[in-house]
Amino acid sequence: MGKPVKKIWLDTDPGFDDWLTMLLLGSNPQIDWLGVSIVTGNAPVDITWDNALRIKAHDGLKVAIYRGCEQPLAGAIETAQRILGDSGMPTTGDALPPRAASDASSDAAGHAVDALIAAVRAHPGEITVIAIAPMTNIATALMKAPDIAGKIVEIILMGGSTDQGNHTAAAEFNIYADPEAADVVFRAGIPLRMFGLNLCRQLLVTNVEVARLRALGTARASMLAGYLEAYVRIRSPDGSVPMPMYDPVVALYLEAPQLFQFLPAHVAIELRGELTRGMTVCEFRVPRRAAVTTQVAHLADGPAAIELLMQRLSAILA
Ligand code: RIB
Ligand code: CA
Repeated sequence: MGKPVKKIWLDTDPGFDDWLTMLLLGSNPQIDWLGVSIVTGNAPVDITWDNALRIKAHDGLKVAIYRGCEQPLAGAIETAQRILGDSGMPTTGDALPPRAASDASSDAAGHAVDALIAAVRAHPGEITVIAIAPMTNIATALMKAPDIAGKIVEIILMGGSTDQGNHTAAAEFNIYADPEAADVVFRAGIPLRMFGLNLCRQLLVTNVEVARLRALGTARASMLAGYLEAYVRIRSPDGSVPMPMYDPVVALYLEAPQLFQFLPAHVAIELRGELTRGMTVCEFRVPRRAAVTTQVAHLADGPAAIELLMQRLSAILA
């Protein structure tokens, strides 16, 4: 008897690492994928929405994709385009085919926030929310429909860090881009499982993984290899310095939880610090100093996790 099927909702800002996560989720038989909400993050939502629909068409995904929030709850829009370019997902090779005109009407009508609320209310106590982007959609849903907080099984997020940031010295991008939204989520009383930069830095990809994809010899593998090569080159121009793998870590956890270890903590979001805004302040002296709100991933078998990723991508793309 296999593991029970898990109902999930994905909130995302494609993004190449988001794309890898979608490939893993879409090919996992233990997952009942109820929907996808798109948000401003790696790029403004106009672009992340277009990226998501191009991914769906290219990879034949069946899941409904809803367009979500454009602006963070407070402050100006902050994207990763200064690092990733206008598209939010650069490649050294061929780009995803543009959407056909007909695709414009091919996706889910209605706002992503309303779709998420409806899905949680339709499946109370069954849905795990996977958050791999700034949490504007999720926070907006919680503010619009407070009842859903008690109906979500768990939120598993790629975001934050127990140590250094990436977008700033103190803050990881998904939190930094909408700290007020993260604050709403971390205060909502929903069980949280946080995969921060401290964990992702144990899962490293290099040009070796790029070559492994290319060696598969299919058009899909070659295209994905170009995006992976550009992703690895975020860290160093020639890809010689290993690059942490971010978003797919949550999908790898769903498939192989034994590869990861967690510590209970209270996690708070810094909103006012001039240098620390968006920092996830992790208090591990629980419950003495604070109540436990979050299971924080702190150890991974990184090589095994990356090997699982490569094995799964090889099976999908071959
Ligand atoms: O800091 C990494 C996160 O920022 C990932 O989710 C990546 O896709 C970007 O959104
Ligand atoms: Ca992302």
